Amino acid sequence: MCGIIGYTGSKQVKPIIIDALTTLEYRGYDSAGMAVCNNQKNRTDVYKCAGRVRDLEKKCEFKDIDSTCGIGHTRWATHGGVCDTNAHPHSVGKVTLVHNGIIENYKDLIDEFDLSSALTSETDTEVAAAVLDHFYEKGHDAKKAVKSAVKKLKGTFALVIMFSDIPDVIYSIRNVSPIVATLSEEGAMLASDNTALCRFTDRYFVVPEYTIVELKKDKVTMWDLNDNEITPQYLTMDWEKNSAEKNGYPFYMEKEIMEQPKAIRDTISGRTRAGIPNFEADHIPDSLFTGCERICVVACGTAMHAGLVFQALVKSRLNMHIDVELASEFMYSDPVIDEKTLVIAVSQSGETIDTLEALKYARRKGAKSLSIINVKGSSIARESDYVLYTNAGPEIAVASTKAYTTQLALFYLIVYKMAHIRGVLSDDEIRECIRNLKRVPEVVSSVLDEKNAVHVIARGVLDAKDLFMIGRGLDYSILMEGSLKLKEVSYIHSEAYASGELKHGPIALITDNTPVVALVTQERIMSKELSNIREVRSRGADVALFIKADLIQSSTREFDTFVLPNLPDELMVFPASVALQLLAYYVSSDKGFDVDKPRNLAKVVTVE
Ligand code: M6R
Repeated sequence: MCGIIGYTGSKQVKPIIIDALTTLEYRGYDSAGMAVCNNQKNRTDVYKCAGRVRDLEKKCEFKDIDSTCGIGHTRWATHGGVCDTNAHPHSVGKVTLVHNGIIENYKDLIDEFDLSSALTSETDTEVAAAVLDHFYEKGHDAKKAVKSAVKKLKGTFALVIMFSDIPDVIYSIRNVSPIVATLSEEGAMLASDNTALCRFTDRYFVVPEYTIVELKKDKVTMWDLNDNEITPQYLTMDWEKNSAEKNGYPFYMEKEIMEQPKAIRDTISGRTRAGIPNFEADHIPDSLFTGCERICVVACGTAMHAGLVFQALVKSRLNMHIDVELASEFMYSDPVIDEKTLVIAVSQSGETIDTLEALKYARRKGAKSLSIINVKGSSIARESDYVLYTNAGPEIAVASTKAYTTQLALFYLIVYKMAHIRGVLSDDEIRECIRNLKRVPEVVSSVLDEKNAVHVIARGVLDAKDLFMIGRGLDYSILMEGSLKLKEVSYIHSEAYASGELKHGPIALITDNTPVVALVTQERIMSKELSNIREVRSRGADVALFIKADLIQSSTREFDTFVLPNLPDELMVFPASVALQLLAYYVSSDKGFDVDKPRNLAKVVTVE
């Protein structure tokens, strides 16, 4: 969703803004814009348009922009259609600002400040600019005006502001929607997320909520709403400098799929001692896992699918009660939560608002909380009692891949840890589990080595309109993620179905040449699964089979087959998921789609 950048310093700002907005494209957007400080004319110049960052770049191509201070924005439309006028920045009077989030009471504010005839766009953002300008006109005191204006705003917002008569200074304030900032020798910078900052510096701080930030060329100052100065709490990004670049791959999705062996290894690394899971470096006490009677996972999309695999493991290994809830439904479903509940929030970005709100709700009910997050210092991480970071590096493609498998790696460590401290498995049994878990990166590598074979299968479904993915038990959970992956990047309607459920309705949709992807990795339910595959085959389905090597039989050779390298059944989720990611990737790229930016989707979902 909306991306934000702001810079004031010694360098020309236009290329900095364009570069940063290009980096932020992955968040999903439909318009782009920037505002720069024009010191000669004592004004703020705004350039904006519906379309891509390259359209904005063209728009400014022949403009003589000589400025070292400016703000930029990519918009994902919420209030008002996609058009030049609704694009950010918005200017009212001396105020120019960009915004991420939603001003829920914008209609009331239009009435209260009598703005209806003054507004030119349909956005809630322009209303915020008008309210701020109203207060600024009263005393020309930027801090006071920001303070008074935000007291009027309801909703979520990250506002980044310039005043035309305060040259080379940028202000910002936020509620929920994130802003990170930094100061380096080249100037001061802020952004909606640190992928935009990582090529400049590896140090950044998260701007606390309801804190006014003032960026000058050589100084960053923050105050709370009572005028107390706040010291920035700097964090260090452990992302390598070029880790947010494509490094020769045509798409980030392919690059991120290929990075999984390393990402999984990095996630496990340092979290075992003498072959036993150990979270001391993450400051997680054993009591977190011994003190709970039930577990509740809250997450969205792919992260929720990782939770489903965890659920199967918790049931099979720990015999414990666990719920996995869609974060967007959680609060409205009267969840059973108490102080004996461990709530686990899972999120790559750490900013998904549904997950954040679900976590806050669970904590209000007394639950202890742990989050599994990729982005350090993100909102969900800060809201949780404890955090386990997936060390996946930046994930830029909208379709989540390495975040999912590293979330899984942490879930396996958690289950083995709990099995150990709750006395369910012996030390030797745990060591055996960890030995197998540590084989995952090498097994995933061998799937990646065979990617051309998946590509061949992908060619067979390019023209499909609808597709089924069928499996049982753990395979069904894996396919839910595989199916999401395919539909989001290829636009093929794909349904994951528990195979045994087919004959209770959906088998009516199977006719000649209906593509069916079948997954067989679980020995104990294999024979039932193979019967279900034959049921769809005898109704004309074209079956592509993904099967664990050890489970191949003479009767399975009639299908187009991709052989998955062996691991214990419990861990087959890793090679199977990676093969399904490759399937989705090849279908999308062969169809000529913009794989990394599927239509209508955003990488970071900051609206409910
Ligand atoms: O950042 P999060 O992990 O909280 O994001 C959750 C979902 O929005 C995300 O997994 C989404 O489903 C992906 N596009 C799936 O590939």
